[in-house]
Amino acid sequence: MTNAPTHAIGIDIGGTGMKAGIVDLQAGTLSSERVRIPTPEGAEPPAVLQTAKELIEMLGDDAKDLPIGVCFPAIVKGGRTLSAANVSHEWIGLEAENLFADALGRDIHFVNDADAGGLAELRFGAAKGQEGLTILTTLGTGIGSAFLFDGQLVPNTELGHLQWKGDSIERYAAPTAREREDLSWKKWAGRLQKFYDHVEFLFSPDLILVGGGVSKNPEKFLPMLETRAPIRIAEHRNNAGIIGAASLAMA
Ligand code: BGC
Repeated sequence: MTNAPTHAIGIDIGGTGMKAGIVDLQAGTLSSERVRIPTPEGAEPPAVLQTAKELIEMLGDDAKDLPIGVCFPAIVKGGRTLSAANVSHEWIGLEAENLFADALGRDIHFVNDADAGGLAELRFGAAKGQEGLTILTTLGTGIGSAFLFDGQLVPNTELGHLQWKGDSIERYAAPTAREREDLSWKKWAGRLQKFYDHVEFLFSPDLILVGGGVSKNPEKFLPMLETRAPIRIAEHRNNAGIIGAASLAMA
Protein backbone atom coordinates (compact mmCIF):
# COMPACT_ATOMS: atom_id res chain seq x y z
CA MET A 1 0.00 0.00 0.00
CA THR A 2 1.36 3.45 -0.84
CA ASN A 3 0.70 6.33 1.49
CA ALA A 4 -0.36 9.67 -0.01
CA PRO A 5 2.45 12.19 0.45
CA THR A 6 1.94 14.85 3.14
CA HIS A 7 4.51 17.23 1.66
CA ALA A 8 5.81 18.01 -1.82
CA ILE A 9 8.16 20.47 -3.45
CA GLY A 10 6.82 23.12 -5.81
CA ILE A 11 9.10 24.84 -8.32
CA ASP A 12 7.73 27.90 -10.11
CA ILE A 13 9.71 28.91 -13.18
CA GLY A 14 9.08 32.47 -14.25
CA GLY A 15 10.54 34.74 -16.90
CA THR A 16 12.35 36.74 -14.18
CA GLY A 17 12.74 34.47 -11.15
CA MET A 18 12.70 30.76 -10.31
CA LYS A 19 11.16 30.01 -6.92
CA ALA A 20 10.68 26.88 -4.85
CA GLY A 21 9.39 25.73 -1.50
CA ILE A 22 8.17 22.68 0.39
CA VAL A 23 4.39 22.61 0.65
CA ASP A 24 2.23 21.08 3.36
CA LEU A 25 -0.37 19.36 1.21
CA GLN A 26 -2.99 19.24 3.95
CA ALA A 27 -2.86 22.96 4.70
CA GLY A 28 -1.88 24.13 1.22
CA THR A 29 0.81 26.40 2.67
CA LEU A 30 4.58 26.60 2.51
CA SER A 31 6.26 24.63 5.29
CA SER A 32 9.78 25.75 4.36
CA GLU A 33 11.33 29.04 3.45
CA ARG A 34 10.74 30.16 -0.12
CA VAL A 35 13.98 30.06 -2.10
CA ARG A 36 14.57 32.08 -5.25
CA ILE A 37 17.24 32.38 -7.94
CA PRO A 38 16.95 34.85 -10.84
CA THR A 39 16.02 33.07 -14.07
CA PRO A 40 19.25 32.63 -16.05
CA GLU A 41 19.65 35.17 -18.84
CA GLY A 42 17.83 33.94 -21.95
CA ALA A 43 16.26 31.02 -20.01
CA GLU A 44 17.98 28.38 -22.16
CA PRO A 45 17.02 24.81 -21.24
CA PRO A 46 20.37 23.62 -19.75
CA ALA A 47 20.70 26.68 -17.49
CA VAL A 48 17.08 26.47 -16.31
CA LEU A 49 17.44 22.75 -15.53
CA GLN A 50 20.66 23.41 -13.58
CA THR A 51 18.99 26.23 -11.61
CA ALA A 52 16.04 23.97 -10.74
CA LYS A 53 18.55 21.50 -9.31
CA GLU A 54 20.19 24.24 -7.24
CA LEU A 55 16.80 25.31 -5.84
CA ILE A 56 16.14 21.77 -4.60
CA GLU A 57 19.59 21.72 -2.98
CA MET A 58 18.84 25.03 -1.25
CA LEU A 59 15.78 23.42 0.36
CA GLY A 60 18.15 21.04 2.17
CA ASP A 61 17.64 17.58 3.65
CA ASP A 62 13.91 18.04 4.19
CA ALA A 63 13.47 18.08 0.42
CA LYS A 64 15.19 14.74 -0.10
CA ASP A 65 12.89 12.19 -1.73
CA LEU A 66 9.80 14.42 -1.71
CA PRO A 67 7.62 14.44 -4.84
CA ILE A 68 8.15 17.46 -7.08
CA GLY A 69 5.76 19.60 -9.11
CA VAL A 70 7.22 22.04 -11.64
CA CYS A 71 5.29 24.85 -13.28
CA PHE A 72 6.49 26.63 -16.39
CA PRO A 73 5.43 29.75 -18.36
CA ALA A 74 4.35 28.03 -21.58
CA ILE A 75 1.61 25.90 -23.08
CA VAL A 76 2.15 22.44 -21.58
CA LYS A 77 0.61 19.42 -23.28
CA GLY A 78 1.52 15.81 -22.68
CA GLY A 79 4.67 16.90 -20.82
CA ARG A 80 5.90 19.00 -23.75
CA THR A 81 6.34 22.77 -23.82
CA LEU A 82 4.63 24.12 -26.92
CA SER A 83 5.31 27.86 -26.70
CA ALA A 84 7.91 30.28 -25.34
CA ALA A 85 6.97 33.92 -24.79
CA ASN A 86 9.35 34.94 -22.01
CA VAL A 87 11.85 32.07 -22.18
CA SER A 88 14.19 30.74 -24.87
CA HIS A 89 12.51 29.54 -28.05
CA GLU A 90 14.46 26.33 -27.66
CA TRP A 91 11.74 25.17 -25.28
CA ILE A 92 9.20 24.94 -28.10
CA GLY A 93 8.43 21.28 -28.73
CA LEU A 94 10.77 19.95 -26.02
CA GLU A 95 9.89 16.95 -23.84
CA ALA A 96 10.31 19.29 -20.89
CA GLU A 97 8.75 17.04 -18.26
CA ASN A 98 11.26 14.28 -19.05
CA LEU A 99 14.14 16.76 -19.08
CA PHE A 100 13.24 18.01 -15.58
CA ALA A 101 12.74 14.45 -14.32
CA ASP A 102 16.22 13.50 -15.59
CA ALA A 103 17.84 16.65 -14.19
CA LEU A 104 16.20 16.31 -10.79
CA GLY A 105 16.62 12.56 -10.55
CA ARG A 106 13.00 11.67 -9.84
CA ASP A 107 9.56 11.65 -11.45
CA ILE A 108 7.91 15.03 -11.49
CA HIS A 109 4.53 16.61 -12.25
CA PHE A 110 4.62 19.33 -14.88
CA VAL A 111 2.08 22.08 -15.59
CA ASN A 112 1.67 25.64 -16.92
CA ASP A 113 2.46 28.27 -14.25
CA ALA A 114 -0.91 30.06 -14.27
CA ASP A 115 -2.72 26.72 -14.26
CA ALA A 116 -0.68 25.75 -11.19
CA GLY A 117 -1.78 29.01 -9.54
CA GLY A 118 -5.35 28.18 -10.45
CA LEU A 119 -5.09 24.75 -8.85
CA ALA A 120 -3.76 26.32 -5.65
CA GLU A 121 -6.71 28.70 -5.49
CA LEU A 122 -9.15 25.90 -6.35
CA ARG A 123 -7.85 23.51 -3.74
CA PHE A 124 -6.79 25.88 -0.97
CA GLY A 125 -7.83 29.42 -1.76
CA ALA A 126 -10.24 31.94 -3.19
CA ALA A 127 -11.77 29.63 -5.83
CA LYS A 128 -12.58 26.81 -3.42
CA GLY A 129 -16.29 25.96 -3.55
CA GLN A 130 -16.94 28.64 -6.21
CA GLU A 131 -19.63 27.85 -8.76
CA GLY A 132 -19.45 28.86 -12.40
CA LEU A 133 -16.35 30.32 -14.02
CA THR A 134 -13.46 31.76 -12.04
CA ILE A 135 -10.64 33.25 -14.11
CA LEU A 136 -7.29 33.62 -12.38
CA THR A 137 -4.99 36.06 -14.13
CA THR A 138 -1.35 36.19 -13.15
CA LEU A 139 0.35 39.51 -13.72
CA GLY A 140 4.12 39.14 -13.83
CA THR A 141 6.69 39.04 -16.61
CA GLY A 142 3.80 38.00 -18.88
CA ILE A 143 0.09 37.60 -18.27
CA GLY A 144 -1.07 34.08 -17.50
CA SER A 145 -4.57 32.73 -17.05
CA ALA A 146 -6.36 29.76 -15.52
CA PHE A 147 -10.01 28.92 -16.12
CA LEU A 148 -11.65 27.17 -13.19
CA PHE A 149 -15.13 25.96 -14.03
CA ASP A 150 -17.28 24.35 -11.35
CA GLY A 151 -14.23 23.03 -9.54
CA GLN A 152 -12.31 21.85 -12.63
CA LEU A 153 -9.29 23.40 -14.31
CA VAL A 154 -9.56 24.00 -18.07
CA PRO A 155 -5.84 24.17 -18.93
CA ASN A 156 -3.76 26.31 -21.32
CA THR A 157 -6.06 29.27 -21.84
CA GLU A 158 -3.27 31.82 -22.54
CA LEU A 159 -5.28 35.06 -22.22
CA GLY A 160 -2.04 37.07 -22.19
CA HIS A 161 -1.84 36.32 -25.90
CA LEU A 162 -5.15 37.90 -26.86
CA GLN A 163 -4.19 40.18 -29.72
CA TRP A 164 -3.97 43.90 -29.07
CA LYS A 165 -2.58 46.37 -31.61
CA GLY A 166 -0.89 43.57 -33.53
CA ASP A 167 0.85 41.99 -30.55
CA SER A 168 0.07 39.88 -27.49
CA ILE A 169 -1.80 41.99 -24.96
CA GLU A 170 0.75 41.05 -22.28
CA ARG A 171 3.29 43.24 -24.12
CA TYR A 172 0.97 46.18 -23.45
CA ALA A 173 -0.60 45.38 -20.09
CA ALA A 174 1.78 43.16 -18.05
CA PRO A 175 3.63 44.75 -15.12
CA THR A 176 6.80 44.54 -17.22
CA ALA A 177 5.21 46.99 -19.68
CA ARG A 178 4.67 49.40 -16.76
CA GLU A 179 8.34 49.13 -15.85
CA ARG A 180 9.66 49.18 -19.42
CA GLU A 181 7.64 52.25 -20.37
CA ASP A 182 7.85 53.89 -16.93
CA LEU A 183 4.05 54.22 -16.70
CA SER A 184 2.25 55.60 -13.65
CA TRP A 185 0.08 53.08 -11.77
CA LYS A 186 -2.98 54.96 -13.05
CA LYS A 187 -1.93 54.75 -16.66
CA TRP A 188 -1.06 51.09 -16.29
CA ALA A 189 -4.39 50.38 -14.57
CA GLY A 190 -6.06 51.92 -17.65
CA ARG A 191 -4.31 49.32 -19.81
CA LEU A 192 -5.29 46.53 -17.46
CA GLN A 193 -8.87 47.77 -17.61
CA LYS A 194 -8.86 47.20 -21.38
CA PHE A 195 -7.58 43.67 -20.83
CA TYR A 196 -10.25 42.84 -18.24
CA ASP A 197 -13.02 44.49 -20.32
CA HIS A 198 -12.11 42.24 -23.23
CA VAL A 199 -11.88 39.12 -21.05
CA GLU A 200 -15.24 39.87 -19.43
CA PHE A 201 -16.91 40.46 -22.77
CA LEU A 202 -15.61 37.16 -24.14
CA PHE A 203 -16.11 34.88 -21.14
CA SER A 204 -18.44 36.50 -18.56
CA PRO A 205 -16.62 35.08 -15.54
CA ASP A 206 -18.32 34.93 -12.12
CA LEU A 207 -15.11 35.79 -10.26
CA ILE A 208 -11.76 37.21 -11.33
CA LEU A 209 -8.63 36.56 -9.28
CA VAL A 210 -5.35 38.42 -9.59
CA GLY A 211 -2.05 36.71 -8.81
CA GLY A 212 1.57 37.08 -9.87
CA GLY A 213 4.33 39.38 -8.64
CA VAL A 214 2.15 42.47 -8.67
CA SER A 215 -0.31 40.97 -6.17
CA LYS A 216 2.09 42.26 -3.49
CA ASN A 217 0.84 45.81 -4.15
CA PRO A 218 -2.91 45.48 -4.83
CA GLU A 219 -3.74 48.89 -3.37
CA LYS A 220 -1.81 50.55 -6.20
CA PHE A 221 -4.13 49.38 -8.99
CA LEU A 222 -7.01 47.16 -7.87
CA PRO A 223 -9.26 50.01 -6.64
CA MET A 224 -8.96 51.64 -10.08
CA LEU A 225 -10.38 48.63 -11.95
CA GLU A 226 -14.07 48.31 -12.72
CA THR A 227 -15.34 44.86 -13.55
CA ARG A 228 -18.80 43.31 -13.65
CA ALA A 229 -17.63 40.24 -11.76
CA PRO A 230 -16.00 40.66 -8.35
CA ILE A 231 -12.22 40.98 -8.68
CA ARG A 232 -9.95 39.89 -5.83
CA ILE A 233 -6.34 39.16 -5.10
CA ALA A 234 -5.50 35.44 -5.21
CA GLU A 235 -5.20 34.18 -1.63
CA HIS A 236 -1.81 32.62 -2.22
CA ARG A 237 -0.58 35.65 -4.11
CA ASN A 238 2.81 35.01 -5.59
CA ASN A 239 3.16 31.57 -3.93
CA ALA A 240 0.19 30.13 -5.80
CA GLY A 241 2.42 28.61 -8.51
CA ILE A 242 4.63 26.80 -5.99
CA ILE A 243 1.64 25.53 -4.00
CA GLY A 244 -0.37 24.45 -7.04
CA ALA A 245 2.56 22.67 -8.70
CA ALA A 246 3.29 20.80 -5.45
CA SER A 247 -0.39 19.94 -5.07
CA LEU A 248 -0.25 17.80 -8.22
CA ALA A 249 1.48 15.20 -6.03
CA MET A 250 -1.88 14.77 -4.25
CA ALA A 251 -3.70 13.60 -7.36
C1 BGC B 1 2.89 32.47 -21.29
C2 BGC B 1 1.95 31.70 -20.39
C3 BGC B 1 2.25 32.01 -18.94
C4 BGC B 1 2.25 33.51 -18.70
C5 BGC B 1 2.63 33.87 -17.28
C6 BGC B 1 2.81 33.93 -20.95
O1 BGC B 1 3.66 34.65 -21.78
O2 BGC B 1 2.55 32.27 -22.64
O3 BGC B 1 2.08 30.30 -20.63
O4 BGC B 1 1.29 31.39 -18.12
O5 BGC B 1 3.14 34.15 -19.59
O6 BGC B 1 3.91 33.42 -16.97
